[in-house]
Amino acid sequence: LMLVLCLSAGEDFDWTKSNHGSFYYGTFPTGFSWGAGGSAYQTEGAWDKDGKGLSIWDVFSHKKGKIQLNDTGDSSCEGYYKIKDDISLMKELRLNHYRFSISWPRIIPTGVKSDHVNEKGIQYYDELIDHLLENNITPIVTLYHWDLPQILQEKYGGWQNISMVNHFNEFANLCFEKFGDRVKHWITFNNPWSVAVEGYETGEHAPGLKLRGTGAYRAAHHIIKSHAKVWHTYDTQWRVKQKGLVGISLSGDWGEPVDISNQKDIEAAERYVQFYLGWFATPIFHGDYPQVMKDFVGRKSVQQGIGTSRLPAFSPQEKSYIKGTCDFLGIGHFTTRYITHRNDQSGRGSNSYFTDRDLAELVDPRWPDPGSEWLYSVPWGFRRLLNFVKTQYGNPMIYVTENGVSEKMMCTELCDEWRIQYYKDYINEMLKAIRDGVNVKGYTAWSLLDKFEWDEGYSERFGLYYVDFRNKNKPRYPKASVQFYKRIISSNGFPN
Ligand code: NOJ
Repeated sequence: LMLVLCLSAGEDFDWTKSNHGSFYYGTFPTGFSWGAGGSAYQTEGAWDKDGKGLSIWDVFSHKKGKIQLNDTGDSSCEGYYKIKDDISLMKELRLNHYRFSISWPRIIPTGVKSDHVNEKGIQYYDELIDHLLENNITPIVTLYHWDLPQILQEKYGGWQNISMVNHFNEFANLCFEKFGDRVKHWITFNNPWSVAVEGYETGEHAPGLKLRGTGAYRAAHHIIKSHAKVWHTYDTQWRVKQKGLVGISLSGDWGEPVDISNQKDIEAAERYVQFYLGWFATPIFHGDYPQVMKDFVGRKSVQQGIGTSRLPAFSPQEKSYIKGTCDFLGIGHFTTRYITHRNDQSGRGSNSYFTDRDLAELVDPRWPDPGSEWLYSVPWGFRRLLNFVKTQYGNPMIYVTENGVSEKMMCTELCDEWRIQYYKDYINEMLKAIRDGVNVKGYTAWSLLDKFEWDEGYSERFGLYYVDFRNKNKPRYPKASVQFYKRIISSNGFPN
């Protein structure tokens, strides 16, 4: 293995050099929280150790042809065995917080709490949380980062089934009981858009179902109800004692109209964002789905001869129960698309979440070459998205829960200049958004380590630290971006 070391790159890098717009000097508000993140299935490994149950990702990744090179998360970074090593990396970066997720089947192997709670799993998270706190690193904990207990999928169809609401609530309640004395930042769901669309519409993610035009809407509906229930559980049973916050982490790429003088493009770009971030944020902040989603999915359903809309409806009681169930909003943001209007003739058979939107996504050939096929660096889109959240949802408290970039297949490269440029530009746009009045409290670089990147396997590396997956011990090596991010953290931004 030839690792190209370039320890000085972070120091020498000219961070005012920009390939878009102007650079903005300044520091972040005092107390701004700097972090990095990962998730259970992507980093822990130990997939069948110490009484852990199977998740849908264990089963999905073991099927041939689902993951690049048929890789699995069986051992991944072996994070399960490396609490202390990884915390020393976080110390090196001087992180204020670390974002991770709890594997539901590691602590409740069958998914149903009354069946059995796995003490070994509880111990692992206890240890992780305790060591973080001993090192002054705040844990930000996600309850669902995609690893549903397999039995719940087999028995009930997973998120297609309303019974998930209670099972998830029991799991969340157990986490509040066991860890809530120390964990004060809870994220119910990570990126439910992906769970719904990639899990139940395209089938690219576990459980790999292709229930086109219906499955994603139904999954999302149950996820939103589950989120609301867990928020109420915390609010009524734990908040007074534990004094924490419960939010949700939504992904949102920005959509910019191709032609800003064309009303149809403007509306199409608006739809792109509403069918993405708005799908979840609008019910949670305003009580119901975005009007454009109701209009478009409803109209298309009628055209297809389906009596009622494929988009499920909330009852008036549900609307008021769901509205306002968010103490902070987590935002996972990576990239931007140009959007143009396209009349999608979705007859029977071609109905899908995608055709429901009547739009086409484009990229600008001048955008810097992506590290991966989908992730173009378009920093200004980040600022626009953050401002959109501010105006649409009443200026909520925001934690950026994911932002970062991968390099594809460059397995021996520690000189990640591309990543340094990305972080510099995106963090600078976030600073501008804060000056615009957006209430951003923290930022989470995604991710601390290279890790299992879902259907892309290990072919996309997001880490600040390089992980040598071919070596059984999974050693970590700092990329140049470690020095760079560390410098931003210690100066709290870009002082002049
Ligand atoms: C969002 C997902 O939440 C995360 O797990 C993944 O690593 C990133 N996207 C990058 O694809």
